Amino acid sequence: MSEFLNSPQLPPGTKPLPTQVGGHKYGNGQIGCLEVNDGTILKHVQRPPYGQRELDFYDEIFQSTDDNTLIELRSFVPEFHGVIHGGNNGGVAKHQYLKLENLIKKLSKPCVLDIKMGRKTYDPEASPEKVASQTAKFPPAQQLGYQFTGMLVKYC
Ligand SMILES: Nc1ncnc2c1ncn2[C@@H]1O[C@H](COP(=O)(O)OP(=O)(O)OP(=O)(O)O)[C@@H](O)[C@H]1O
Ligand SMILES: [Mg+2]
Repeated sequence: MSEFLNSPQLPPGTKPLPTQVGGHKYGNGQIGCLEVNDGTILKHVQRPPYGQRELDFYDEIFQSTDDNTLIELRSFVPEFHGVIHGGNNGGVAKHQYLKLENLIKKLSKPCVLDIKMGRKTYDPEASPEKVASQTAKFPPAQQLGYQFTGMLVKYC
């Protein structure tokens, strides 16, 4: 863990989220979500089109003032606190992060479950190679319609 804490890639005041149970890593595949001591996490914005889609999703939900469905949806997702730019590459920010509420911030022994919903885990524009690699990861999902990608039962 100490090599992460000293890594120049991390935005100041952040460290790897110790309760992350699944999901993407970036920067040589080492770093995932980052914990900030203000009750939020930073989630790396993935390569196009995925990260931008997620950003647009949060923007739409948290900026809407007249769509009651979107306003109601806010209570089911982490609070969105905007985009953070970090990681210096010759004066240009190298990485973008979504600043999100840390959903386990008030829990001393959090239990976390990461579920992928759906029979397919690829998008409609996915290449045949992507479809094959995603399907091969857990073939029963095609019948079950969901899969667990990670779980943490007790964290001390
Ligand atoms: N808001 C949050 N609060 C606490 N932990 C979180 C939060 N968001 C994500 N995590 C942790 O990070 C992990 C990965 O999150 P997530 O599934 O959102 O990212 P991803 O798999 O990289 O991207 P995506 O699922 O959007 O393709 C989760 O399993 C969970 O452990
Ligand atoms: Mg995920």
